Amino acid sequence: MKGIVLAGGRATRLRPLTKITSKQLLPVYNKPMIYYPIETLIKSGIKDILIIIAPDYAGHFLNLLGSGKELGAKFSYEVQDEPRGLADAFRVGENFIGDDNVTMILGDNIFDFNFAQSIQSFTKGAKIFAKEVQDPNRFGVVEFDANHKAISIEEKPKQAKSNYAVTGIYIYDNGVVDIAKNIKPSDRGEIEITDVNNEYLTRGELSVDIIDGIWEDAGTFDSLLRANNYWAEKSKAASS
Ligand code: G1P
Repeated sequence: MKGIVLAGGRATRLRPLTKITSKQLLPVYNKPMIYYPIETLIKSGIKDILIIIAPDYAGHFLNLLGSGKELGAKFSYEVQDEPRGLADAFRVGENFIGDDNVTMILGDNIFDFNFAQSIQSFTKGAKIFAKEVQDPNRFGVVEFDANHKAISIEEKPKQAKSNYAVTGIYIYDNGVVDIAKNIKPSDRGEIEITDVNNEYLTRGELSVDIIDGIWEDAGTFDSLLRANNYWAEKSKAASS
């Protein structure tokens, strides 16, 4: 199993903060945001990690993270010239993925949850993770039938069919590279991860686990503040 951290994009929602650095380098309590998704992968046993970055501030990521040795991992880097959508990561990362399975995590997704069991027991298809939220319209939304089986996934729907948001960690078998290559851009011009997930759903190969751990997509001022407060409290509680 290989790992990808996707830290591209322009993060216009966080301007002016992101006029001087990348979103994923902003502080979340006592470390840059990207440490959290990297540590989530490392704690699940993934050591071979590709970090996909935008051209702006690319050197800052290298200065900060280097080879990965300090964190007990091996980091590779690719530059995504344009923010073409999340599924583009599997095109940019094709050579890195090779013949392996891959877990992708978004560079602004901060979890307090252990994925080790899910990742280590994964063999085939796709596995994604949903969490109940108050504002599902910000996210991919999963609809379940009466037997808790996923029946649809919609990207940022106006009328959400449930309160279950798709979180930004995705486990795929090697077939994801071909699936990503065949996806057409959506109306917003992006190659959507939701289309990848719907392809696995159509094939009957998608499983959706509901998680109860803490999760923030720290891409807005309010969620960034919540993430800071959560980790500050947790860190103080641990040291008192
Ligand atoms: C992306 C995905 C969305 C997912 C979210 C998780 O949204 O498109 O399906 O629920 O990440 O953080 P974005 O952060 O690009 O708005």
